[in-house]
Amino acid sequence: MLSVEDNERLTRVGPGTPGGAFLRRYWQPACLSQELPEHDGPPVRVRLLGEDLLAFRNTAGAVGLVDAYCPHRRAPLFFGRNEECGLRCVYHGWKFDTKGDCVDMPSEPADTRLQAKVKLKAYPTVERGGVVWAYLGPPEKQPAPPNYEWLRAAPTHRYVSKTFQHSNYLQALEGGLDMSHSSFLHNERLGDTTETRNRDRTPRAELEATDYGYWYATVRRIDPERNYVRFNHFIMPHGNVFGAFTSPTGERLNAARVDGKFWAPIDDEHTHVYNWSCAYDAHTALTPEDWEACEAFCGRGTDDLVDGTFRLKKNLANDYLIDRQRQKARSFTGIEGLNTQDFALQEGMGPIVDRSQEHLGTSDRAIVLMRRLLRDNIAAVERGEDPVGVDPEASARIRACDAILPANVAWRVALADEMSAKW
Ligand code: FES
Ligand SMILES: [Fe+2]
Repeated sequence: MLSVEDNERLTRVGPGTPGGAFLRRYWQPACLSQELPEHDGPPVRVRLLGEDLLAFRNTAGAVGLVDAYCPHRRAPLFFGRNEECGLRCVYHGWKFDTKGDCVDMPSEPADTRLQAKVKLKAYPTVERGGVVWAYLGPPEKQPAPPNYEWLRAAPTHRYVSKTFQHSNYLQALEGGLDMSHSSFLHNERLGDTTETRNRDRTPRAELEATDYGYWYATVRRIDPERNYVRFNHFIMPHGNVFGAFTSPTGERLNAARVDGKFWAPIDDEHTHVYNWSCAYDAHTALTPEDWEACEAFCGRGTDDLVDGTFRLKKNLANDYLIDRQRQKARSFTGIEGLNTQDFALQEGMGPIVDRSQEHLGTSDRAIVLMRRLLRDNIAAVERGEDPVGVDPEASARIRACDAILPANVAWRVALADEMSAKW
């Protein structure tokens, strides 16, 4: 459990909060590249870490991320004209470039000194892996751009999607790091003993802190001779990486891939989940059908979105369309869709879970370690120090995996090759 005060420090993300200052030291996913498909296309509303912003792609293709309101009289720039390398406010015509400089002020005399003085708040962006990343922290502390393995994968071999979640980022991240819930929440094969996760529902865990966060492994004894091992990572401040090399019944998948998520805080009570996936390597012979199946699976974020939004059709207002008959017969939850199952639990807790009321067990060790890292690094930022994992090189070579291994084999030796980046 956490004290009420620690819970506040970990869950508040806005400007001026300790948690917000910590999160601002890392590049954050701001939107998908596909949300800005054309040069000079319509700007897109982005709310990130409690700030209302606008993303726009200018004439040259560069992406600006700026204050949603004009510095003249605070008109909404969303209705602005995106033209000739700048966004022009439609109230009085002031125009700003992607750096936030005012490049035209037609409502003032030609010799005005105001134009040089007025700035629109603008944050640096980089586009990698189909995602626009933004840095909202102090300029002198800006890290090198993100360099995760999947960002280096060929566009034909990677996938990224996004889902809106009505909860604080921390309880969503906790759901991603939780080591034991997949044997329960995601069990669609009640009573099926060929299911690896059904055979051992109290996995043994190993964890180790690193310079990007930590890695953790869960080992399930599936029969006297064999273990099912999953090797995963937590990446500061809100990412995870997991492997999808093995089918639920234990066969190595043709379309082996590495998956992960980032839980980018919109504000204290809302989150965008970025789901990404990349193929094992460039030589993995993925047939179009393999990749389609892979996309359908790792596009968990896209199952059943309301058209033109990133919101799930199945949501708290309709109880995620829980089917109580199905729940009796076959599925642990009676809720369809892996992603939707996670949302039902995480959103159903309420927007910010009260962690002073919880009772943690041994299966919560990954969550406890993550909270400790966040708490310690929030304090480090307050003291003026750099938090763990801001250097993108710390996490550039890591990857996750899973495998069935003979019980007498040390997993760290057997999986050594699978644990390092191929891209
Ligand atoms: S409010 Fe934007 S130009 Fe006046
Ligand atoms: Fe889950």
